[in-house]
Amino acid sequence: MKRNTWNNREVVLGVTGSIAAYKACELASRMTELGAKVIPVLTHSAAELVGPSTFEAITGQRAVTAMFDSLQNPDVEHITVASRASLFLIAPATANILAKAANGLADDWLSTTLLVTRAPILFAPAMNTNMYAHPATQANLNTLRARGCHFVGPESGRLACRTVGPGRLIDPPVILEAASLLVDDRDDLADKRVLITSGATREALDPVRYLSNRSSGKMGYALALEAMARGAQVTVITGPTEIAPPHGAERIDIETAEEMAEAVAQRLPETDVFVAAAAVADYRPAHAPSVKQKRTGQPLQLELVENPDVLGRACSQRKHGQVLVGFAAETGDLEEMGREKLRNKPVDLLVVNRVGPGQCGFGAGSLDALILDGSATVTDLGHVGKETVAQAVFDRVAQSLRGRAPTETHI
Ligand code: CTP
Repeated sequence: MKRNTWNNREVVLGVTGSIAAYKACELASRMTELGAKVIPVLTHSAAELVGPSTFEAITGQRAVTAMFDSLQNPDVEHITVASRASLFLIAPATANILAKAANGLADDWLSTTLLVTRAPILFAPAMNTNMYAHPATQANLNTLRARGCHFVGPESGRLACRTVGPGRLIDPPVILEAASLLVDDRDDLADKRVLITSGATREALDPVRYLSNRSSGKMGYALALEAMARGAQVTVITGPTEIAPPHGAERIDIETAEEMAEAVAQRLPETDVFVAAAAVADYRPAHAPSVKQKRTGQPLQLELVENPDVLGRACSQRKHGQVLVGFAAETGDLEEMGREKLRNKPVDLLVVNRVGPGQCGFGAGSLDALILDGSATVTDLGHVGKETVAQAVFDRVAQSLRGRAPTETHI
């Protein structure tokens, strides 16, 4: 089962007066479903757009709409709530709340408690494009960023004011993802630099065709999210995938195995943990003509040459204290294949998963997997979600990093 970071967490959901306020209902609903206690706080204009009772029905908590309401009820007294909260999520955040927060104004419940809380603050801005681009708003964003506030979005798109451009509230699932990283207080990978390869590589046959495989990038995505949730700085080197790396991870796009090898070589020296989750093509066409190839009526012979083994190189150049994790997608006996792989690539952890016709694995959300550690001790994870695999990997990585910490010497 995936660890639920939301369970029993108290979250203040600040809703301000943007047309996108209705989307906050989805956020409230999802966080409540996940076990969080969500305190909805609506500014005066937000309450005109969406009824407080909607939020009350969704969350089971009284919605705060005015400063003086809260004084009637010790449970929502602003200082107590602000101190107890694990997260302040302001979605949608208007130009007005950003300006108030940046300037320390405290003229309603939300702006007041933003000054009180020491919890992480995440803003999901939503406003007209010109308002967003205005130097005043940009200066406020910079001030808040410099103070450690977090932002997710906005994205570009069609706005309620019928213009198109940046200012649209980013999708609620993306907001939740960013929020879940902040609400999670585990930090066993704090200050660690984690490098992840993800997705499939593409090896050009000509300008329009390529050799590749079925990797979707979902495993790399789950790994990046888990590592970030544990406090790591994450870089994802990714082939073209169905799914982009999570918000907050540094992303390096590559296409071929050679490009991946080069990008990894550049990053590896400053990496604490390298997780090779990409399905790298072992071979590439020896020649890739620069013009599109035509049918000839004859059989076509392809000559392939070996690609660099990215993980293999990392194993041979491993710096002291670095943790290396490999993946192996197999159709045969997982344990036997895994042991053999470990002999060729001496990683600290190897995740072996089943692929093939009718199997889960590539493209799916779940897989049958085993984890082998450096001494070939096997843990059978069974049939699990990719998030669970990511969690199991980083539990072991964190353990391994702790084991390698220099021991204290007392003189
Ligand atoms: N890997 C890599 N570079 C390659 C090939 C594989 O970094 N050119 C990494 C993968 O990201 C994965 C592991 O190595 O972590 C897989 O190793 P291996 O099983 O040897 O690769 P396959 O090509 O899948 O295996 P085989 O040689 O058995 O076909």
